[in-house]
Amino acid sequence: MDILTARGLVMTYGSTRALDDVDVTVGAGESVAVMGPSGSGKTTLLHVLAGILRPSAGSVDLAGTDLLALSDAQRTRLRRDDFGFVFQSGQLLPELPAEENAALPLLLAGAPRAAATERAGGLLRRLGLAGTERRRPGELSGGQAQRVAIARALVGRPKVVFADEPTGALDQATGREVLDLLTSVAREHGAALVVVTHDAGVARWCDRTLAMRDGRVVSQFTAPVGGAR
Ligand SMILES: Nc1ncnc2c1ncn2[C@@H]1O[C@H](COP(=O)(O)OP(=O)(O)O)[C@@H](O)[C@H]1O
Ligand SMILES: [Mg+2]
Repeated sequence: MDILTARGLVMTYGSTRALDDVDVTVGAGESVAVMGPSGSGKTTLLHVLAGILRPSAGSVDLAGTDLLALSDAQRTRLRRDDFGFVFQSGQLLPELPAEENAALPLLLAGAPRAAATERAGGLLRRLGLAGTERRRPGELSGGQAQRVAIARALVGRPKVVFADEPTGALDQATGREVLDLLTSVAREHGAALVVVTHDAGVARWCDRTLAMRDGRVVSQFTAPVGGAR
């Protein structure tokens, strides 16, 4: 079953076609890597799929809901309830301990503090962060901070997690560890994942890879059955 279906996406900025007739589908629980050179439209695609940017043309459907037909308030609510986000870095609140950073979406949605931090703590431990729950971002390594960001993206049990170069600020070994965790934990939670990455080894963890160039999807390949999953 497809959870996210985008058809004929076009995004123009003046004479630049950041997206040039892109079709994308993401299956429920599927992990999709998006690769391509700088400026090829990866971030624009992610933002359009996530309902952050309105395309110049095309449609985006989330499990039967036309994202572009919603009001701004409805789309904001859908983003909060159904989507999780991981960015490159700098997304944690410096004054909050790891556990509360990870629990933030639940706390903002009005969940009781004990239940929210308990669920966040469980995710942090699954991500190898046992013992760091009370540390603030300044007391974490870059890789640890990104794992807290992953916990925060998943804590609300989203249908889709979007990650834009989540390991771009990390060294390659740490980056791979974080990508491996991101894909496996998303899979365990039944969340689909759309991750922009420059690591060509990512096909090892994702179900499918899309290659972009000049605003178009130029190739799609599926991971071999029985890969590293
Ligand atoms: N807000 C914007 N205004 C004007 N041009 C933009 C804007 N955002 C992106 N672009 C242009 O669209 C193209 C695709 O950008 P982007 O999606 O950020 O690519 P990537 O993430 O692959 O590096 C680039 O040519 C970029 O300069
Ligand atoms: Mg980008």
